[in-house]
Amino acid sequence: MSTLTEQIEKRRTFAIISHPDAGKTTLTEKLLLYGGAINLAGSVKGKRTAKHAVSDWMEIEKQRGISVTSSVLQFKYDGYCINILDTPGHQDFSEDTYRTLMAADSAVMVIDASKGVENQTKKLFKVCVMRHIPIITFINKMDRDAQNPFDLLEDIENVLGINTCPMNWPIGSGKEFKGVYDRKKGKILSYTANNGQREVEQEEIPLDDPDLDSKLFYGQKDTLFDDIDLLDGAGNEFDIDMVRSGQLTPVFFGSALTNFGVEPFLQEFLQLTTAPLAREAGGEMIAPDSDFFSAFVFKIQANMNKAHRDRVAFMRICSGKFDKNMEVYHVQGDRKMKLSQPQQIMAQEREVVEEAYAGDIIGVFDPGMFSIGDTIVSPGQKFAFKGIPTFAPEHFALVRQKDTMKRKQFVKGMNQIAQEGAIQIFHEPESGMEEVIVGVVGVLQFDVLKYRLENEYNVEIIMENTPYQFIRWITSEVDYKALDLASDTKVVADFRDNKLLLFRSEWSIDWALEHNKGLTLQDFGNAE
Ligand code: G4P
Repeated sequence: MSTLTEQIEKRRTFAIISHPDAGKTTLTEKLLLYGGAINLAGSVKGKRTAKHAVSDWMEIEKQRGISVTSSVLQFKYDGYCINILDTPGHQDFSEDTYRTLMAADSAVMVIDASKGVENQTKKLFKVCVMRHIPIITFINKMDRDAQNPFDLLEDIENVLGINTCPMNWPIGSGKEFKGVYDRKKGKILSYTANNGQREVEQEEIPLDDPDLDSKLFYGQKDTLFDDIDLLDGAGNEFDIDMVRSGQLTPVFFGSALTNFGVEPFLQEFLQLTTAPLAREAGGEMIAPDSDFFSAFVFKIQANMNKAHRDRVAFMRICSGKFDKNMEVYHVQGDRKMKLSQPQQIMAQEREVVEEAYAGDIIGVFDPGMFSIGDTIVSPGQKFAFKGIPTFAPEHFALVRQKDTMKRKQFVKGMNQIAQEGAIQIFHEPESGMEEVIVGVVGVLQFDVLKYRLENEYNVEIIMENTPYQFIRWITSEVDYKALDLASDTKVVADFRDNKLLLFRSEWSIDWALEHNKGLTLQDFGNAE
């Protein structure tokens, strides 16, 4: 095996998805404990730890004590090189969160055992499903009172529409949590809480241990045996192909805070997922161990350093090896270049990358030439990866500039910020930018927009709420002027002049579909 292939085989690149407070940060911290963290890019969070300064490149993040953008962490474990793509845990997450999933090869879904599937998990999950990537579930906080494990599995299956296959099975929860039964090993990993509950003692107990009864609470042994029978008899069978195509999610129960079940989870995770796979570009499959370099931009972060007004483009390497000084070709810009100041991520802790491999993420200084979805390849190659879809915003505001004399700056600022993908802008078809409707995935982006227009473009804006709640791209060939729509539905166009419909309620979406034969709608914009 060549070194390139060896390097790539060792790589795993995944995103962690969860609803805020489910324990994503805690789990990430524990995973890092097992490996030598190589690059801590951005937070392991926010609000509580001193580390949060790392990703606080923007005042607004500092003021709020949250992370606006996603970041990447890299660590080594058992010979593997693992990239974790973090997604903001705040409810005001942005479209970046979705885009980050486009750069991941698999996803870990963290669920709070007392709450089941929550809203934000649903949204992120949809993107994973669209990509058919493996989704591995970690049901967290078993040291607290939890819902019945069968109910939790049913919840995942019903709400998310994916089959589940528990890899281990909990024995009690909360004060009566006694550990998990590892279905593959046929052994119990016992949990003994100690006072501070930070690190618990763990012991492996075989099922036929004569003292098992005394090691568990009354009745737990019978319940466990019944549960195992039920799982073996009626549960979904484990099928690695279904896991890898995202149709079956292996489920692990544990407790990140007490570091219980985290390492076995990590070990299994590495077996369940694969090294980076080939990606499609122009109808061809690009193998990760190709002898040429290729990558696509999935995120652009502006103003990392206010003094220099710089932007950093984050790219996911899809094939080959990246060397610091090599020349590359930017397909969309049709020009050869060197990637300047390549860094394995971000903020204060930028580190220059000497080399990186398929699966890794690098950030490069961007003087404004890259757009989300752009392809960068070795000179001589010309293919382009399929772009990144635009995800439907969920909040809308009408935006005007305060001082009409500053029209030029306003239009420039709005367009640039939209080009970076921080906001989406819509306008009436066949009209200019007199009245701009700004759509965002998380409301915090409105503040970011206002802040940046004031600070970077010197434009003050007035933002008005709009009653719209849903937006859909029109995907059929219809004359938008001839559509029969409810009075509260509005037709708008995006910057590519695709036509969309803005709705105030789901009811009006149904109304539009019922009254217009042949009309089809979609809640994400196709990638170019
Ligand atoms: P997030 O990134 O998904 O938003 O969640 P985070 O890890 O920050 O965890 C949210 C809260 O849940 C934290 O408590 C954390 O300590 C707690 N937590 C995480 N995993 C577990 C677990 O396995 N068991 C229990 N009992 N709690 C867990 P907090 O009160 O917000 O912060 P802290 O003061 O405890 O740090």
